[in-house]
Amino acid sequence: MAGLIPQDFIDDLIARADIVEVVGRRVPLKKAGREFKACCPFHGEKTPSFTVSPGKGFYHCFGCGAHGTAIGFLMEFDHMSFVEAIESLASSMGVEVPRNESDQPARHYDELFSLMDSVARHWQSCLKDAPAAVEYVKNRGIDGPTAKRFGIGYAPEGWSNVLDKFGKSDEAIEKLLATGLIIRKDNGKHYDRFRDRIMFPIRDARGRTIGFGGRVTGDDEPKYLNSPETVLFHKGRELYGLYEARQALRNIERLVVVEGYMDAVALARHGIDFSVATLGTATTSEHLNRLFRLTENVYFAFDGDRAGKKAAWRALENALPQVREGRQIRFVFLPDGHDPDSYVNEHGADTFIKIMDEGLALSEFLIEELTSQVDMKTVDGRARLAELAAPLINTIPAGIYRELLVESLAEAVGLTAAKLDGLLKDGSSAGETGRKRRPSAVRIRQQTLVAGSPSVVRRAITLVLNHPEAGQDLDVGKLGDLKRPGVDLLAALIEIVQAEPNITTAGLLERWRHDDQGRHLGKLAAMDVPSDEDFDPAAELADCLTQLATAGRKDRISFLIEKQRVNSLTDDELSELRQLN
Ligand code: GTP
Ligand code: MN
Repeated sequence: MAGLIPQDFIDDLIARADIVEVVGRRVPLKKAGREFKACCPFHGEKTPSFTVSPGKGFYHCFGCGAHGTAIGFLMEFDHMSFVEAIESLASSMGVEVPRNESDQPARHYDELFSLMDSVARHWQSCLKDAPAAVEYVKNRGIDGPTAKRFGIGYAPEGWSNVLDKFGKSDEAIEKLLATGLIIRKDNGKHYDRFRDRIMFPIRDARGRTIGFGGRVTGDDEPKYLNSPETVLFHKGRELYGLYEARQALRNIERLVVVEGYMDAVALARHGIDFSVATLGTATTSEHLNRLFRLTENVYFAFDGDRAGKKAAWRALENALPQVREGRQIRFVFLPDGHDPDSYVNEHGADTFIKIMDEGLALSEFLIEELTSQVDMKTVDGRARLAELAAPLINTIPAGIYRELLVESLAEAVGLTAAKLDGLLKDGSSAGETGRKRRPSAVRIRQQTLVAGSPSVVRRAITLVLNHPEAGQDLDVGKLGDLKRPGVDLLAALIEIVQAEPNITTAGLLERWRHDDQGRHLGKLAAMDVPSDEDFDPAAELADCLTQLATAGRKDRISFLIEKQRVNSLTDDELSELRQLN
């Protein structure tokens, strides 16, 4: 994954790097037990919640969620590229970075960034030569300066414009493929991904182009085409317009999150230059992490239709673990048929800001939405409300914000906060017992779901990450072909710790640096695992695996029973079922 640098070199570097020294040279650290603390360098704070764990080779901020390894720290703090961070770390330890000559032709990220940049500039110049495209952009209310600021361009018609201009050698073609600019056909030939589209470059925090969104100028499908996931571009992480907003503003007092490229551009055109767009995905907790690192005030502006409500609810769910005193989250629902683009073009910036300020506070949206789902006039309805609220409220960190929310919820339900708190607790357990009362056919599925629930997988992953040595003697084969989210990841982690007995938490994280699936590993690595004397991570991990194996067996049994019901079983399957039972 790291191009020419061999993976075992990176493993070794990370295992030997002293993260306390790397961080400590840049941020004053204080020892606190087995760890070190500081005020977080990635967000403003007065009491230290930034923790460095020398054992894990890992840092984590409980305030803003920033986390990573020594390499990650250098990338974030010193704005280095991945390769630069490795080189810097190696040179501080007095070792040379080996290059794996047998590997593919050099594919440094820097070269990919510069290719993206050249293509972006090329498309900008194409726009100037395409009157119809210019007409489209103008008709959408975008003026010259705004187009320039966002680097908006035009990819002309034709199957090989980019290919011909930028793909003159095999190596160049590899780079075009790696950045998703061209597509390879089954017969080995290539063609341009973006044809006859208005192009929106997507930039990272440092202004480098990492992907593109392209819009048709007519009615063709799909309306928008995005770059695929590449080593440079991860949709669920990026926010369109964030770089431009940071360029425009010295202090970011607030940010407004919208759904579309055109929404962000149109708002900026009207002077609302603090808007960012998710890229056709839901608002993820990673998005929120980013937003809250920059500002305390986040607004979501969604369409007023069902889809908009749904998107807002998803954003709310992901935001709850990050709400706290001082942070303000508001939801703005636009009137029928409007999106931020059409609304600001029709009503202007002042009116848009006014409806933003009048948007629903997170607590109001939460209560409004939940109360609309139950009959508040009945005792049952109110109990149901508590049941619905419990799992949500329980994701909010303890503190004033949570207390206030419970209070407003109590008020809405017409109870005292203490009473509601009690109900909230009952609510969560009522859900559990309710589930067990289902008829037997459903029960098989439900039970296996509980036994192999994501939390067991999650727990197991957390254990391997925090105690790589605990995975040494496990039999991954026990997992069989259990199909649960995270099981593949767990198996891969165990395989690595068995192949590399000296690997550290940080080393494991680096293995997944460029991997979509592993993006949440950092959070799990930061979880507190009890460290009292009785705690035996290897035993606990083995126990998780046994639970998962049991779940896998039950899955197989219900599969066979189901097959027997609708079809029939082969002799082999029959004897397998007898054995399993
Ligand atoms: P305009 O019609 O240009 O105003 O677009 P919009 O931003 O109003 O579009 P819409 O609300 O339909 O979509 C919001 C966002 O979802 C877009 O900015 C894209 O990121 C994404 N999106 C919309 N349509 C498509 C599509 O067909 N394919 C993909 N991949 N993404 C889409
Ligand atoms: Mn629109």
